[in-house]
Amino acid sequence: MLAVKDLKVSFPGPQGPVNIVRRLSYQIPRGETLGIVGESGCGKTMTSLALLGLVAGGGKVEGTIDFGNRDLAKFDQRQWQTVRGREIAMIFQEPMTAMNPVMSVGRQIAEVLVKHEKIGKAAAHGRAIDLLAQVGIPSPARRAEDYPHQLSGGMRQRAMIAMALACRPKLLIADEPTTALDVTIQAQILDLMLTLQEDAQMSIQFISHNLAVVSEVAHAIMVMYAGKAVEYAPADELFDNPLHPYTQGLIQTLPDPDKRVERLYVIPGRVTTDIAAGCRFARRCPFADDVCRAVEPELLEVSPGHQVACHKVNP
Ligand SMILES: Nc1ncnc2c1ncn2[C@@H]1O[C@H](COP(=O)(O)OP(=O)(O)O)[C@@H](O)[C@H]1O
Ligand code: SF4
Ligand SMILES: [Mg+2]
Repeated sequence: MLAVKDLKVSFPGPQGPVNIVRRLSYQIPRGETLGIVGESGCGKTMTSLALLGLVAGGGKVEGTIDFGNRDLAKFDQRQWQTVRGREIAMIFQEPMTAMNPVMSVGRQIAEVLVKHEKIGKAAAHGRAIDLLAQVGIPSPARRAEDYPHQLSGGMRQRAMIAMALACRPKLLIADEPTTALDVTIQAQILDLMLTLQEDAQMSIQFISHNLAVVSEVAHAIMVMYAGKAVEYAPADELFDNPLHPYTQGLIQTLPDPDKRVERLYVIPGRVTTDIAAGCRFARRCPFADDVCRAVEPELLEVSPGHQVACHKVNP
């Protein structure tokens, strides 16, 4: 369905190009979810923007984005418009930025339908109400008349999902879609996404800084650090057999459901982008040695479907 190969995103900087996403390769089969996890600033959002042709500010996108037998990386803006919001849709943390504050929610969804599906206004309005019902919004006909600010955070997020689903996308990119919501609402939204995925056989690229959230929905997980994949495996395998020290650290930071943890373990240090050579994680890694600091490890397969970039795993 989606096959990304050697994706790079770079921006011009005073000392040459700054590489934000570095040679990322992954696939998402039809009807499956890939979770992409990593700390803030590691390039997750930039990866999503590249898939939508929305990298701005002079950013350069390289590599191939194979989607339905076309290479999206070669698309011009006119071609992007035929794909964006139609075959690939995106939802993110703050629905207010995706919505028009002075247009009712129902009308916004109806406009998407009129534009993409070439149906009449009355039919579109009916479909908009159906979609609001489908994402679990009570009294959808009445809610359709509401403006975005009149909805609660959770309802607004549901409305954004309804808008994203209006054109039945083959791929949904969800970038921290539940980060701003409280835990109960978050669980409801994740459940909703799983149900809708099953109904429509939609592929999902689910992005979060929170491994616990990703583990609720993902079939496979790619762990990113400083613009690169450091570990990529089926979700069960990643939890049963985490091999990269960064992944092990992320798993240690998860709350243990059997214990009431007062304070969570936190990986010391933070992501740095100013390192020119060696493993980008070396400054924070308890196992780092001179080889780690000199040579950047390659992402290599250690068992079928399980890839790791670490010298200690792949000596
Ligand atoms: N227009 C830009 N020019 C240069 N660097 C940028 C630009 N936009 C974002 N960045 C940098 O790209 C990095 C990755 O950002 P982002 O993809 O938003 O990370 P994430 O979503 O994982 O938090 C950050 O270090 C950010 O400072
Ligand atoms: S390559 Fe070295 S520094 Fe990097 S994660 Fe592995 S052990 Fe740590
Ligand atoms: Mg982000």
